Amino acid sequence: MNDLKITSIFTVYNNSSELSFLDKDLLLKAIEARNNAYAPYSNFCVGVSLLLENDTIILGNNQENAAYPSGMCAERVAIWNAASQYPKLKIKKIFISAKAKNRIVDKPVSPCGSCRQVIAEYETKQSEKIEILFTGETGKVIKAESVIDLLPFAFDNSFL
Ligand code: THU
Repeated sequence: MNDLKITSIFTVYNNSSELSFLDKDLLLKAIEARNNAYAPYSNFCVGVSLLLENDTIILGNNQENAAYPSGMCAERVAIWNAASQYPKLKIKKIFISAKAKNRIVDKPVSPCGSCRQVIAEYETKQSEKIEILFTGETGKVIKAESVIDLLPFAFDNSFL
């Protein structure tokens, strides 16, 4: 029997002013998307911007439903938006920003498990990592180089 130690390294920015010019722009786009979220039930608005390999930026936000499970997270809205419009283009980065209507979200909001699984599918499809940056309304921004840092032992098509 052995132990297996898995180490992940994340970049932590103290606030958005430490981001690169490109990442600042992606954050602004994610905020723009967040402002259009349809979240009347949770009052928790999430916006996502995706950077494609040809520098196109695709947006997505959470879309809720009176039948709660019929709603969808911002990350999957954005990824499927990109994959349906530009199926041949690789996704380079995903930037996630979240804001609640009734309080300040001051810690980075990471993608939910289902969204991690979907991001992992597209990493496999494109054979290239997708950088993930995530933040709240204020405060730190965290950057992961790959979804596998957030989802070790991901299930993929190699098991099928
Ligand atoms: N949500 C996202 O859009 N992305 C996540 O990764 C976590 C949660 C949305 C789903 C729902 O509309 C609201 O946030 C509260 O869970």
